[in-house]
Amino acid sequence: MEWNQHRIALLSACLLTLPVTSLAKDNQQSADQLAPEAATGLTEQQAVTGKNWMVASANPYASEAGAEILRQGGNAIDAMVATQLVLGLTEPQSSGIGGGAFMVYWDQKKKALTTFDGRETAPFAVTPLLFQDEKGQPLKFFDAVVGGRSVGTPGTVRLMWYTHQRHGKLDWKKLFEPAITLAKEGFVVSPRLAALVEKDKAHLQRFEATKAYFFNEDGTPIQAGQTLKNPEYADTLRQIAERGASAFYTGEIAKDIVKAVRTAPGNPGVLSTMDLATYQVKERPAVCAPYRQYEVCGMGPPSSGALTLGQIMGMLSHYPLSDLGPDNLTSWRLLGDASRLAFADRGRYMADSDYVPMPTKGLLADDYLQQRAALLNSDQALAKAEAGNPPWDHAMRYAMDESLELPSTSHFSIVDKGRNVISMTTTIENGFGSRVMVRGFLLNNELTDFSFRSHDNGNPIANRVEPGKRPRSSMAPTIVMQKGKPYLAIGSPGGSQIIGYVAKTLVAHLDWGMDLQQAINLPNMNNRFGPFELEANTEAEQWAPKLETLGFKVQVKELNSGVQAIKLSDKTLTGAADPRREGKVIAK
Ligand code: GLY
Repeated sequence: MEWNQHRIALLSACLLTLPVTSLAKDNQQSADQLAPEAATGLTEQQAVTGKNWMVASANPYASEAGAEILRQGGNAIDAMVATQLVLGLTEPQSSGIGGGAFMVYWDQKKKALTTFDGRETAPFAVTPLLFQDEKGQPLKFFDAVVGGRSVGTPGTVRLMWYTHQRHGKLDWKKLFEPAITLAKEGFVVSPRLAALVEKDKAHLQRFEATKAYFFNEDGTPIQAGQTLKNPEYADTLRQIAERGASAFYTGEIAKDIVKAVRTAPGNPGVLSTMDLATYQVKERPAVCAPYRQYEVCGMGPPSSGALTLGQIMGMLSHYPLSDLGPDNLTSWRLLGDASRLAFADRGRYMADSDYVPMPTKGLLADDYLQQRAALLNSDQALAKAEAGNPPWDHAMRYAMDESLELPSTSHFSIVDKGRNVISMTTTIENGFGSRVMVRGFLLNNELTDFSFRSHDNGNPIANRVEPGKRPRSSMAPTIVMQKGKPYLAIGSPGGSQIIGYVAKTLVAHLDWGMDLQQAINLPNMNNRFGPFELEANTEAEQWAPKLETLGFKVQVKELNSGVQAIKLSDKTLTGAADPRREGKVIAK
């Protein structure tokens, strides 16, 4: 089978009118189709090479801001700050200072890999009933998302500040110049942003400040090609540039964030100035899983990213995928069922381990993954995929999680000339987050990454809402190590699809020998905890009848990954951006 992609990108208008009625699993499809982050276009991409440094982000302005900082002698941390600040302006639907992020960081001088957790926290005033109605039933997804109720304490500004204080090189203020200039002078609205505003206009128009920004005076949504200025964002950034993170977490900006959350019409939240003032970034050890001659390293709890990806790769390591190749049905059966088993464990065990006991080590234990891999030794799809019993000295057995995570988020990778490496996935959760805008930026809806139900049949759900807790994430910023050195920085947006996008790209590159760009372009075929999802309008669709004969349920749908990856070899850097979005790689 040839893997040339031919795509029709827009969703059909009739699908966009489907109602989303509850959190039940059978609503996954209609909810995904409504998500404003669904695919809107495809541009041709080519891998880029460089010798000194490289930035690969989801937006050309953001990549250019990072590149400019690297040209001025900044390091990867400096470039991360500049890139993130511009992403919040030019790709505001996906990430920004009103959200949270995870960063995996290789420090070349120390030869050390570490991770930084800038995940949002639940306000101290929440209860496990936050997303339930008066009868204890889960709220409809968008009833929970849109408004102040879903807003967690943002972590991105503290993450940028904390890491810059420890590892940055250039003056903090300098890193704000590209974003402030662009916000004042204006940027050209991309086709993707314009299409997403059009699709989400009913939600965006509910809030005065959001409407004023994303709609013209005549009421029309902003258009692709139009120049958009954001003087309020420029002013917010100026204050953070001058006074550091405390300008955001205390004082007038913090008060305005809290006011916007607590007065959001129809759906207020409970965020307080205390939540902001006490927010902390956490440095955590990277979670690594061996895969062939590599180690796949990333973000542990509260993200499920590295554990679920590590489980998938760990199970696959027992099968000769490189011999089987991409045209072999067995390869996709193995990928699909390894993913189903990993997602079953994820649903039962994974959450914020600062709050709930978790078998973090057991989930990646060799013997355990060998047992789980043995379940795949068949010529049929697994009849059912259930959570296993990883080695664990805790008696608790949790109920299955029920959170619904829709495609969203942004990923970027950076390597500086000193060979420090960043893999960062950053988000405001749903497209345009909570839709509540304050001082020129959107606030996240990260709290809807918690399970709406807190218990099932009397058993607690690990990822239930609790005060101060971080909602479980699927973000999987990854650095693949080889012989103790970084080999690949990679990650993707896409809600709980992120894990499958990264797994597919790793297998395509590491096992099937595809170059980075081919591996990213390869049509997406994901299996979470339900049907085998095949990327619409690609040759992935041709696998449908074959997978059905093995016993899989199949669903054809938009699967618009946004993988930005950089491969490091001794002399060269090779970068690739996902053609499904608007990413750009810049290198020297
Ligand atoms: N909100 C996307 C994620 O954390 O997975």
